[in-house]
Amino acid sequence: MTPRVPVAVFASGGGTNLQALLDHEMVSNAYRIALVLSNRADAGALDRARAAGRDAVVGSSDGRSQQEDGAEMLHDLEKRGVQVIALAGYLKLIPPAVVSRFRRRILNIHPALLPAFGGKGMYGRRVHEAVLAKGVELTGATVHYVAEEYDTGTIIAQGPVPILPGDDTDSVAARVLKVEHKLYPEVLDHICRAVAGDRDPGPFAPVQADSESV
Ligand code: GRF
Repeated sequence: MTPRVPVAVFASGGGTNLQALLDHEMVSNAYRIALVLSNRADAGALDRARAAGRDAVVGSSDGRSQQEDGAEMLHDLEKRGVQVIALAGYLKLIPPAVVSRFRRRILNIHPALLPAFGGKGMYGRRVHEAVLAKGVELTGATVHYVAEEYDTGTIIAQGPVPILPGDDTDSVAARVLKVEHKLYPEVLDHICRAVAGDRDPGPFAPVQADSESV
C-alpha cells in the first residue's frame, strides 16, 4: 500500500476547512495531516488540530523577518517529512524560501472564482461583499497553487455557486463554504495521490453539481 502523504495545514481562523480535510482522512488513504501551523495562538484551527491529536504550532509571529519565518517553517515542515502544504484561511504571505522549496506543492482555497475577487486584502466577508456589490450571478470557490503573490498561482479546480435572489453576505458565505468543504478535500486527495506516485497530477475532474450543494 502506498504510504499516506504527510501534509501541513496553515490556518489563521476557525478552521472549518481544516476540519473538512481531517474528516476526509477517515475515508481516504491519500494523506495524513502531520502538522497544523497558525500565526495566531488563539486560532480555532489549533484547537481542532489538538482535538484530532495533531501537532499544532504557532509560527510566523508579527515583527519577525520573512527570512526568519521561512527558516523556522522549513525546519517544522522538514522535521515531519511534510510533502504538501494546504493553506486554509491562512492570512499571511508565505515566505519565498518556503514557496520555492514547495513549488506546486502548496495549495490554497479562496472563496470566489479567481482571478476575479482575489489579491491582497481580499479575504473573508470582504470577498462576498465585493461579489454582491458587483452584481455577478455566479461566485464559487477556487483551489490553486500558491505563488509569491496573493491568489496568483495556477488554478487547479473551481466549484461554482449561484447568487440567488435575496442573498446577503452571510448567505453567500455559507453557500460558498459548503462547496469549499467538498472541493478542498477532493483536490488535496488528487494532488497527494500524484505526489505519492511521483507523477504529475494532471487535471482535476470537475466536482459534480448536486442539488444539495447550492
Ligand atoms: C475560507 O473561506 C477560505 O476560502 C478562505 O478562508 C476561509 C477559512 O475559513 N481562504 P475556515 O477557517 O476554514 O472556516
